[in-house]
Amino acid sequence: MITWSKKYSNGAWVVDDYVTAKAILASDQFSVQRAGRWLNTSANDGLEDDLRIFKSLLRQSVVFLDGSKHQKIRSLLIQKIKHAMSNEFQGKLDAIVLDAIEQLQNKPSNLISDLAKIVPARSIAYLIGIDPNNEEVFRWSDAIADFLGAPIENGQLALQAQNAVSEMAQYFESSISRGNYVCNDRRIMDELLEEFPQDQLRSRQVLLAQLCTLLFGGYETTRNLIGNAISLLLLNESQYDLLKNQPELIDDCINEVLRLESPVQYTGRLVRSKISFGDVTFKAGDLVVVEIGAANRDPSIYEDPNSFDIARKFIPHLAFGFGPHYCLGAILSLMECRAVLRNLIKTNIQLNSPPIWSSNTLYRGLDELSVTVMRQALR
Ligand code: HEM
Repeated sequence: MITWSKKYSNGAWVVDDYVTAKAILASDQFSVQRAGRWLNTSANDGLEDDLRIFKSLLRQSVVFLDGSKHQKIRSLLIQKIKHAMSNEFQGKLDAIVLDAIEQLQNKPSNLISDLAKIVPARSIAYLIGIDPNNEEVFRWSDAIADFLGAPIENGQLALQAQNAVSEMAQYFESSISRGNYVCNDRRIMDELLEEFPQDQLRSRQVLLAQLCTLLFGGYETTRNLIGNAISLLLLNESQYDLLKNQPELIDDCINEVLRLESPVQYTGRLVRSKISFGDVTFKAGDLVVVEIGAANRDPSIYEDPNSFDIARKFIPHLAFGFGPHYCLGAILSLMECRAVLRNLIKTNIQLNSPPIWSSNTLYRGLDELSVTVMRQALR
């Protein structure tokens, strides 16, 4: 269904059915260049100058580029991510997961802060080639997620997000200038540095925009996938037992989590030129919000869409988007979640209290998942 809603920005078309959502994501008649618009509204009156750095970095991120510029950066990132992941990464990932799980043993813990956040933060930092234990990532990402997750523009949140992005970019800058990153090991940052002439400010900014995108995108979404997966399994005993008895269902389970509790609930597009879907006509410049989470529960596509069924017949979901901007980290996040679940189902784990959801409307995930994991030899 397509409806007009005032919930987003200055009003937007909201699309919540699977077929239209998929068609819009696939279409080049829509633009992703919406970053400038967010930061140019009345909510930010008087802040335009202060938000300049933020705007210029956001605009250059692969997420907000169209056409050939997008293609060029996207192909480069695909190649570099693939290289970094092919290099003994599985062993490294298993070690990150086991270390985190071993810290949990025999005492009540919040599985979100003690596991779900740690695995993606360390994994993406490792792949980029920076310090995997830099905990600033959590603070920077929270500020950016709060801004991106506010349906209506909010100047204060924009400033906080800009500070976070600036600190993140400065962190990369100083790592580059001090040579404080992993070299000659096919890690992403080292390889990307070769592609962008460092004596040109513009080129340096494009590089920093992609590094910030990967660090934020690699952490914020997967932490929610991992948390949502464990929580759904603990709340649905029969599904948990099924997975324990048939661990080969692990990928089906992860896809079902992605469908049912999509970590990215919506995305946006700007209409390039007048276009109609059924009897609704979008005009150039209109904002369209594609409700990924709702499309993934479309009853005309999925039988009993609100139930958690890891053995359901697989129909591709839209949790990683679709078309030219399909997620660059889909395989990575599946690997991370798989490594966590594979090890966690070998433990004896007990839910201590009902999970507490985050209030962010864009990123669907938990703030708290209190559990006790009983000691068992994992290695
Ligand atoms: C459960 C985990 C993840 C989910 C649910 C997710 C979701 C998404 C979605 C829905 C999009 C498309 C947005 C749009 O079309 O507007 C996207 C794009 C993207 N994702 Fe992910 N993502 C996840 C993990 C990751 C990871 C681990 C990385 C880092 C390696 C990453 C990096 C990106 C990038 C760079 C793009 C932009 C691609 C482009 O514009 O061409 N994501 N993601």
